[in-house]
Amino acid sequence: MKKITFGTPEKFVPSKFCDCLNYVETDVKYDVSAINFRVSARGCVLELPCVAGENIFGLGLQLKAFNLTGGKYTVRVNSDPVAATGDSHAPVPFFVSTAGYGIYVDTARYASFYFGKKKPGVTIDAGDNQLKLSVEELYARSVTLTDAYNIIEIPVAQGVDIYIIEGNTITDIVAQYNMLSGGGCEVPEWALGMFYRCCGKYTQNEVLAISKYFKESKIPCDILGLEPGWHTHAYSCSYVWDPVRYPDPKAMLTELNDNGYHVSLWEHAYVHPSSPIYNDLLPYSGSYAVWGGLIPDFTSEAARSIFADYHRREVMHGTVDGFKIDECDDSDYKPDAWSFPLCTEFPSGIDGEQYHSLFGTLYMKTMLSALDGKPTLSESRNAGALCSSYPFVIYSDLYDHRDFVRGLATAGFSGLLWTPEVRDAVSRDDFIQRMCAVVFSPQCLINAWYCERVPWAELDCEEEVRELAALRESLKPMLMRAFKKYKETGIPPVRALVSDYTDDEETYNIDDEYIFCDELIVAPIISGDSSRKVYLPRGRWTNYFTGEYVECGWHEVSSKSVPVYKKAD
Ligand code: GAL
Repeated sequence: MKKITFGTPEKFVPSKFCDCLNYVETDVKYDVSAINFRVSARGCVLELPCVAGENIFGLGLQLKAFNLTGGKYTVRVNSDPVAATGDSHAPVPFFVSTAGYGIYVDTARYASFYFGKKKPGVTIDAGDNQLKLSVEELYARSVTLTDAYNIIEIPVAQGVDIYIIEGNTITDIVAQYNMLSGGGCEVPEWALGMFYRCCGKYTQNEVLAISKYFKESKIPCDILGLEPGWHTHAYSCSYVWDPVRYPDPKAMLTELNDNGYHVSLWEHAYVHPSSPIYNDLLPYSGSYAVWGGLIPDFTSEAARSIFADYHRREVMHGTVDGFKIDECDDSDYKPDAWSFPLCTEFPSGIDGEQYHSLFGTLYMKTMLSALDGKPTLSESRNAGALCSSYPFVIYSDLYDHRDFVRGLATAGFSGLLWTPEVRDAVSRDDFIQRMCAVVFSPQCLINAWYCERVPWAELDCEEEVRELAALRESLKPMLMRAFKKYKETGIPPVRALVSDYTDDEETYNIDDEYIFCDELIVAPIISGDSSRKVYLPRGRWTNYFTGEYVECGWHEVSSKSVPVYKKAD
């Protein structure tokens, strides 16, 4: 891995906030002299020559995009991506190429990546010179990468550090990127079990009642999550237990713990005027409000301490094991565009654009300090660069099942974990198919935040939920092995087929299958479908459930359950 500095890098970049940056310089084969750099009135630009035949992946969690070759993407933090433009809950300025290299760009700006652009007069594409009579044909992606560049345009910045990482496979490259920030996260076994987030309206007695329901129904469940109703004020947040809904939180939390449950609390970081920490945080806050609340500047250690110490002292009662840190991404497509503007000013000097890119990371850091070393696997709606060592899983309010499965394949390109959480469903099959993908994901999450009854109550599938929860239980040892490996080697527990089979071009567009825990290939049936095509790379495979041998190559599979394959010895 080699770090190269171009121009004068900015002060607020992801590496500055990475506590365990582990950079060891080694020689790379990459021809650094072929990179063009220039500063412009718009910021700065890097041009990297393309390698003929290369395919590009990465740029963080991408729900709408997979193979990025030939496209244009801006790594903008956004909670509702509508197309393959780079918008993401968790965009990361790091891409990997099938040509054996990856580039991490150490910036918190909304950089644009143009993959495969040509300059005039260099090479003339033959083309077929046929007139096209549809817009699809007219603008179809056709890239020849000879004499082309991958261009990175970074707004505002007058310079940047990039890290060039080389390896034989994408997995090799991603593992090194993850080790740069301390390796993968460590997670406790219970956090890999079933996780149920309760309805936001529940009272303490209703939470206790649902905890009993799981025991009585023999549905294994390790974690219960409380949604906004635990606060006296939730949008923005007071971080004060509501005395009406939760008259004795300590007693409730203790009872849940005694019955074997771990508890995760929902919140976001916009601080309501009634919050006991409002006045202390005022001097460390941004120049705009969100839902009437302060935006704490978590780049400041003082702000992080005020926030974390208060949580430890007044909220957690020694019994909370995780947080869902919500709303730390941004809104561009919702009518109320609820988040803070890019021109927001913060006391540390960081601006709104940079803070959006780092907000989730700094908020994770704050809540890990509140947890004070307690093991966790929490949730966040934003993460960014150099995040692999944070035990947080990204989730979304969106609900397209195909996009959710694609997220499982893309998150692993950039040191992120993603859950395709299940909420409600339009039918029994819809619920079961969504639940299948959740069982084979880093976090087995049922997010029933708006469901007064368990979402399967009307769907007549309690038996299937019980079986799937038991299946998840049986996967815990495999998940623990994969997370240990993630921690020690940086190899992600869930990753796209192309990551390991980088020399197999057949895998370059497979965004609906993934390698799970090193041992399995999972190919969820997308909700609404009854069959699918499955690709198994070289080698011999067995059906995970029946043990039957399956040859490599393409197969048409129709199944009520999830197609899962294990490599045969
Ligand atoms: C959303 C979040 C949901 C749920 C809800 C509660 O922002 O994505 O999962 O927590 O808030 O208000």
